[in-house]
Amino acid sequence: MPFDLGLDLAYGVSEGSVRLWIRPSKHLQTIMSILLRKCEGAEAFYADVKRRRSVRDFSDRSVPREIIEDCLLAAGTAPNGANKQPWYFVVVGDPAVKRKIRKAAEQEEQAFYGERASQEWLNDLAPLGTDAHKPFLETAPYLIAIFGQSYGLDAQGKKVKHYYVSESVGIATGLLITALHHAGLVCLTHTPSPMKFLNRILHRPENERPFLLLVVGYPAQNARVPMIEKKTLAEIATFI
Ligand SMILES: Cc1cc2nc3c(=O)[nH]c(=O)nc-3n(C[C@H](O)[C@H](O)[C@H](O)COP(=O)(O)O)c2cc1C
Repeated sequence: MPFDLGLDLAYGVSEGSVRLWIRPSKHLQTIMSILLRKCEGAEAFYADVKRRRSVRDFSDRSVPREIIEDCLLAAGTAPNGANKQPWYFVVVGDPAVKRKIRKAAEQEEQAFYGERASQEWLNDLAPLGTDAHKPFLETAPYLIAIFGQSYGLDAQGKKVKHYYVSESVGIATGLLITALHHAGLVCLTHTPSPMKFLNRILHRPENERPFLLLVVGYPAQNARVPMIEKKTLAEIATFI
């Protein structure tokens, strides 16, 4: 059945000419106001997410566990290959475990900054002011280790195929970062590469590969972020 927009038409005569008015019916007015709200919604969302920044100076202020739980549930809504949901999140709040992670991460980072990284990579990192020291791994109240499951295991221990694992985990991570920001928290996407030590410290099985480590909390009072630019719409998109 055709959709009835129900435009109300009216006409009148003024100074010798006939004028036609089109007044949107109640139905159309409702649709227009929904569309307008949706447009405003997109603008407001952009205004909010453009305030998000990677923070490297954390306060030790605690974060209610319920907030983290809701953010993880939001991450779990992500689209993913064949709905296999090939992710696993380990939330670390235990200071002793955080210390172990910091020690292992700093070891990898020393090798990275000292020998493994190319000069080009080091030059690209220079404006961010990062180095091998990662005190935030102990200061921040939570570290969320994100794992991608290259395959699943059913109740009998039989392998279950997973699809588009890194794409799926990447999308879930993006949602998680956005949810944390929306909850008034800050985070840092940290990748002390290689991250295999996370399996050992967090007792994760062979089918899980560390994807990245999210450092989560509130910013320190004197936290600063590097001055960076984001690309313009014309640089990142084309409409055809
Ligand atoms: C996959 C990935 C890995 C990253 N690894 C690190 C890291 O190991 N250490 C760090 O300080 N920042 C890391 N970052 C943060 C980026 O440097 C940061 O997102 C980028 O400079 C843009 O800044 P913004 O997040 O404030 O917009 C990483 C970001 C991504 C997406």
